Amino acid sequence: MVKIAPSILSANFSKLGEEIKEVEAGGADYIHVDVMDGHFVPNLTIGPLIVEAIRPITSLPLDVHLMIENPDLYIKDFAEAGADILSVHVEACPHLHRSIQLIKEQGIKAGVVLNPATPISSIQHIIEEVDLVLLMTVNPGFGGQKFISSVIPKMKELHSLVKEKRLSIDIEIDGGVNSETALSCVEAGANVLVAGSAIFNQSDRKLAIQQIRDAAQT
Ligand code: DX5
Ligand code: ZN
Repeated sequence: MVKIAPSILSANFSKLGEEIKEVEAGGADYIHVDVMDGHFVPNLTIGPLIVEAIRPITSLPLDVHLMIENPDLYIKDFAEAGADILSVHVEACPHLHRSIQLIKEQGIKAGVVLNPATPISSIQHIIEEVDLVLLMTVNPGFGGQKFISSVIPKMKELHSLVKEKRLSIDIEIDGGVNSETALSCVEAGANVLVAGSAIFNQSDRKLAIQQIRDAAQT
């Protein structure tokens, strides 16, 4: 069963609570929260305060994607604010094992994220420690970008590695996911699909989620 994680980056922030309730009622499985610092990526978004504010709005897991430098400094804050899953970028963590351990010490799920140009070999010695691997299919920083299809072979490589090591971890895809690109991700082994603009740019969010789910499962 494929999980759909709407990214609130494309939501209307003046009514964020309603937006989240709408995608929850529309069948979303996670709420994906994009945290950007203006250094690791060229955009600034939200911090732990917003995570804390949306925590009581939904019973769905909060899937927090940290696109920040020095994530170790903020892991505790995001966990205490209510994150259920915290993911850090390989490219932002010189001591990746330590960052993953810090997340797990908070009693929440730990994920690791790879930019489009970062190889699967970069996580071969940490993959046993994580609950999910997120592969970026855009260069992080903005919603509404075009899906980079050259990441598909990387999804297959990751899926083979997960099977070879007999792990049960989620393979999540983020960037340019819509009803046209979803199936190729799932066929390559993904089971969690993040979608921002494809869901929040449509007035009927339930329909938007259903369209991605249907496309992913045909
Ligand atoms: C990009 C973010 C994504 C983004 C996805 O840096 O990590 O989660 O919101 O947006 P779409 O689905 O519009 O590409
Ligand atoms: Zn994201």
